[in-house]
Amino acid sequence: MSGGSSKRAGLAPRPGELDPIETASRDEIAALQLSRLRWSLRHAYDNVPHYRARFDAAGTHPDDLRRLEDLARFPFTTKEDLRATYPFGMFAVPRDRVVRIHASSGTTGKPTVVGYTARDIETWAEVVARSIRASGGRPGMIVHVAYGYGLFTGGLGAHYGAERLGCTVVPVSGGMTERQVTLIEDFRPDIIMVTPSYMLAILDEFRRQGRDPRASSLRVGIFGAEPWTNAMRAEIEEAFDMHAVDIYGLSEVIGPGVANECVETKDGLHIWEDHFYPEIIDPETGRVLPDGERGELVLTTLTKEALPVVRYRTRDLTRLLPGTARTMRRMEKITGRSDDMIILRGVNLFPSQVEEQILRVEGLAPHYQLVLTREGRLDAMTVRVEAEPGVAGEAQRLALAQELAHHIKSVIGVSAGIDVVDPGAIERSTGKAWRVVDLRAKD
Ligand code: DLL
Repeated sequence: MSGGSSKRAGLAPRPGELDPIETASRDEIAALQLSRLRWSLRHAYDNVPHYRARFDAAGTHPDDLRRLEDLARFPFTTKEDLRATYPFGMFAVPRDRVVRIHASSGTTGKPTVVGYTARDIETWAEVVARSIRASGGRPGMIVHVAYGYGLFTGGLGAHYGAERLGCTVVPVSGGMTERQVTLIEDFRPDIIMVTPSYMLAILDEFRRQGRDPRASSLRVGIFGAEPWTNAMRAEIEEAFDMHAVDIYGLSEVIGPGVANECVETKDGLHIWEDHFYPEIIDPETGRVLPDGERGELVLTTLTKEALPVVRYRTRDLTRLLPGTARTMRRMEKITGRSDDMIILRGVNLFPSQVEEQILRVEGLAPHYQLVLTREGRLDAMTVRVEAEPGVAGEAQRLALAQELAHHIKSVIGVSAGIDVVDPGAIERSTGKAWRVVDLRAKD
């Protein structure tokens, strides 16, 4: 069975199943955004000393917002602002109205702490339910959640959304890969929600157990929390005979469910603009760019009570596109984060670009890491990538390495060392993959 199998057919939601706002006109959306944005700026200014001080210093006041474009006059918020007010300094409601805390660990320093009122939890469930429905989910379906439960927003965010839609939730969390496969085989879920890299580990486990992933019950995977390419989408869709749909979000803004692809188009992620207002800026100058131009995504919450964020700099690089399957605007699939950009002998590149090239080479598996070293005064990159289990012998590995080096040189424009390693040699993550190993001495 190929492409249009019955497992994948008939999942697009019908118009009557959508929230009215999903089919509203642009004018209606803009009017709602303007009134909600006014409320949100006022709420932040009145209740968070940090925002009041920042707005005052910038000479702006919530009353200055007359049109949506006026938001550009307000200061940005960064992860550092959240760290500086650790743990609860950015909360806009008394602590006893906060019913939930999440935190993102980050790689350095203190975690970023976020909070939710009971209504924020409702809002979050609603946007995740909408995301699951956009992905092809329906009430009554079984949803296997393999995002981590805990301080990470993935597990609980997916869980509440799936329950809200009326699904049967299996809260597996990440890890214990053998058991993931057993539960998929026994409970026969329609949908899996998991990071794309962990989905590949589950795929390996299916094969190790001698089971056919295409014969599994899975019809839709809702993948996010890390960048992944369309090449990876094709790989997973073919392996499982399922739809692979992109979900985006970040803890500082709410968690998963800020934006989601529609299964019928898979052409970028519709931002749920009734709750999150997007801007794209030039990361160097901070200038707002017109729709269609690539830059850094900046998000402002429109309805969040406990932790309103004003112009939060996500560091994620994308561009805004007009609506297609929904009237709300789309963001292009994220190519990378500005923090993950590698500068190699003057060429800027992202791990996702290397991923695309790896997936072109038959015989290489989509498990890889980029190792950065310094040779003299120049940076060097070695791609560690696994051979597929069938690949035997040094000569064959050398040929694969040469083919990949050639693609990387001709498409990305850099020379990379290639190390083709044994199947399973690259450590599997049960959540977000660790793509870049930076061994360069810090100076
Ligand atoms: O990763 C929330 C989430 C959970 C999203 C489950 C989707 C699914 P954080 O741990 O705060 O929150 O990390 C947020 O992850 O700024 C992006 O850099 C990256 N990210 C999230 N979704 C995507 C995606 C969750 N679909 C950071 N594509 C964000 C690319 C993504 N990157």
